[in-house]
Amino acid sequence: MTEIERSWLTNPSRRTALARMAALMAASPIAAAAAQTDPRPLSEHRRALSLAEMQTSFDFEPVFFGNVPLSVYDYTAHGDGSEFTLRRNRQAFDWVEIMPRRAAVPASRIDLSSELLGVKMKFPILVAPTAAMRPLHPDEEIGMFKAATAASNTLMILSVNTSRPVTEVAPASPGGTLWGQFYPIEALASAQRVLDTFQNAGCHGIVVTVDQQASYYERTAQDRNFGGVVRTRGAGSGAASAEPVGSARYRINGGRLWYTWQYIDAVRKMIKGPLLIKGILDPEDAKLAIEHGADAIIVSNHGGRSMDYGPSTLEVLPEIVAAVNGRVPVLFDSGVRRGADIFKALALGANGVMIGRTTRWGLAAFGTAGAQRLIEILQQELVQAAAAAGCTRLSEIDATTIKTRFA
Ligand SMILES: Cc1cc2nc3c(=O)[nH]c(=O)nc-3n(C[C@H](O)[C@H](O)[C@H](O)COP(=O)(O)O)c2cc1C
Repeated sequence: MTEIERSWLTNPSRRTALARMAALMAASPIAAAAAQTDPRPLSEHRRALSLAEMQTSFDFEPVFFGNVPLSVYDYTAHGDGSEFTLRRNRQAFDWVEIMPRRAAVPASRIDLSSELLGVKMKFPILVAPTAAMRPLHPDEEIGMFKAATAASNTLMILSVNTSRPVTEVAPASPGGTLWGQFYPIEALASAQRVLDTFQNAGCHGIVVTVDQQASYYERTAQDRNFGGVVRTRGAGSGAASAEPVGSARYRINGGRLWYTWQYIDAVRKMIKGPLLIKGILDPEDAKLAIEHGADAIIVSNHGGRSMDYGPSTLEVLPEIVAAVNGRVPVLFDSGVRRGADIFKALALGANGVMIGRTTRWGLAAFGTAGAQRLIEILQQELVQAAAAAGCTRLSEIDATTIKTRFA
């Protein structure tokens, strides 16, 4: 009989018995062999790509995904409701073909410069306003603005829901152009204060976003982002509450369901520079926006975050361009991921194209340098598409360069 077995006969305490059992198992050759076996076969090996390896905007998204908590990723990635419009925004680009009607030209001969409301642009590309960049990367909005400026002076629009105040972002990148974005605030004195803060910080252009009045992100708000707690503003109360009351219990957001054109008239008077109205999807609304003082309109469905089962922006762009009839510039966003996408929107009549999520992928993946590289990739892809289609100037990117087969 071994020493251990003998000691068990003398009724050891439970603690000593367990300790002896553990000692026995640790000494076992079976455990030693298991410890030396690689638990993961090589096929499961994952390596995060470096900035130098980024080739297209899509390369940045998995790096972003790996860098941040899931709730931060979800907030950027998802859209309203069943996400039909989110998907359709992307699909619509597949329904437009680029036609090589002219002879291709060398990229070195291409000049896509233009002027938008007094701002000179080397490429017709802008950084769309997107909220709260701090969770993405410590470089936050200041990094995004520096990146935009470094990428051939790309104009950036700062969200009113910025993590860093505009007074700190605006001076951080001398020589850059920063405009401000504003969601209507019913109390006009408060609206004036917010608009003045932007304008005093040097934001000449003001974007007023009129969509996203009743959005609801099932994937982020309900399932994951807030740990399963439905957080909806109380109808009309304006106050965020963990325990929704009234219609907010059924996900109806009372915070924004009051917008009128008379309100636009009132804020028009508060804006000294250009007013851009963002979130237009209908030709009649485009005409009304101009009547109510818009200096440019932005065809946008908030990247599929505004109203599910609405149309893709690319499908409605031609009729809006026709309704505007050259009176003011028409900007475009939602779903843009490639230079070829930008080319198609320009060919359908947009004067400039704004990039939303994709800029966030760049910032979240590699900070300022990532956002800069991402914008430059899109600029160069646009040049490549123009070269292939034989367009040396922006004015040559017109309806003759594409064929549309919208479903
Ligand atoms: C995470 C996120 C936050 C956004 N925040 C704002 C905002 O604060 N104000 C605004 O006008 N638009 C906001 N947008 C919409 C963008 O300006 C833009 O319309 C949209 O992202 C374009 O679609 P895309 O992401 O497919 O490029 C946001 C979009 C995303 C993805």
